[in-house]
Amino acid sequence: MYKSKIKGTGIYLPKKVMTNDDLSKTVETNDEWIFTRTGIRERRICSTEGGEFPTDMALNAAKDCLAEAKLEPNDIDMILFASVTPDAKLPNSACILQTKLGITNKCAALDIAAACSGFVYGINMADSMIKTGMVKNVLVVGSEMLSREVNWEDRSICILFGDGCGAAIIGRNDEDDQSEVLSGILGADGTGAEFFDQPVGGSVEPIAQSHLDNRTHFMQMKGRDMFKVATRTLADNAKTVMKRAGVSMDEIDWLVPHQANIRIIETTGKLLGIPDEKVIVNIGKYGNTSAATIPIAFYEAIKEGKIKRGDLVLFDAFGAGLTSGATLLRY
Ligand SMILES: CC(C)(COP(=O)(O)OP(=O)(O)OC[C@H]1O[C@@H](n2cnc3c(N)ncnc32)[C@H](O)[C@@H]1OP(=O)(O)O)[C@@H](O)C(=O)NCCC(=O)NCCS
Repeated sequence: MYKSKIKGTGIYLPKKVMTNDDLSKTVETNDEWIFTRTGIRERRICSTEGGEFPTDMALNAAKDCLAEAKLEPNDIDMILFASVTPDAKLPNSACILQTKLGITNKCAALDIAAACSGFVYGINMADSMIKTGMVKNVLVVGSEMLSREVNWEDRSICILFGDGCGAAIIGRNDEDDQSEVLSGILGADGTGAEFFDQPVGGSVEPIAQSHLDNRTHFMQMKGRDMFKVATRTLADNAKTVMKRAGVSMDEIDWLVPHQANIRIIETTGKLLGIPDEKVIVNIGKYGNTSAATIPIAFYEAIKEGKIKRGDLVLFDAFGAGLTSGATLLRY
């Protein structure tokens, strides 16, 4: 059986910054309310003029991944594109990205609809397929333009989200390589679907003028219900991947959690007994970018010199569905 490792990372962040003060000009809110409850100060917003749509952002991030991994586009055997805000319904964003990257090897291209857990779903699926020998190098992307799906008149939800993209190439490692994915878990609990959903716009309830008039076609969330399940699930999954790899909490160098809310991150950290200094947090700058939070936070922590090759890193994600997943790896 082969082993896999992260070979390269990349991100793209939209140029436009929207601060809490900007938001307070359009809905009844303020920086203090938002910051104390969520840890968010500002978020990025994609241009609607073009150049920053999800596959555009992914193209930029993927180029950095390829350069770091010292690979050519045609070395990619599969693209896994995690997003709840793909460019279009058809074709999938992975196929669009394949063309934009100039890949001509007819590699597999699949979108993952697992909301905020999508990137971790992609990493764990890629790891499994690399282990069997079916693929060698997989480009895993989390790219979101949530600003399109947020009701900008609903202060309970529009303050939370932002746009952005993070990506990684996960590939077969060399035999003497210390870097490897050690263990993973993926899960879901569909009974909590109504805590965070967007029922309008699918086959059951196609979008109609009445939805547009009443603004009922946007994402909707029961924030308190999400909060409770999120912390419990994040802690349970982290414990499971550590157990599977025979690793204790003390040995973990870095927890890279989904960035939904600073209080969810802090509560999860307490449940796990991990010191704050070992938890990567960047939610203040970007808000919740769904599938993109973990790869962006991971990339930034590497560039800031925090996460180094050889460190034990734990990805921990939770999102609508309710989906969840964790990955333990030696970077
Ligand atoms: C969304 C969240 C910040 C709301 O915090 P909360 O303490 O639960 O707040 P509530 O929704 O109960 O609202 C409390 C009050 O603040 C008000 N309020 C809501 N949004 C506000 C805003 N942006 N600015 C000011 N006041 C606001 C509410 O109207 C309510 O007022 P009321 O008491 O007069 O009715 C919090 O529930 C949360 O972070 N949940 C997790 C959500 C999440 O991250 N999900 C994604 C997981 S992938």
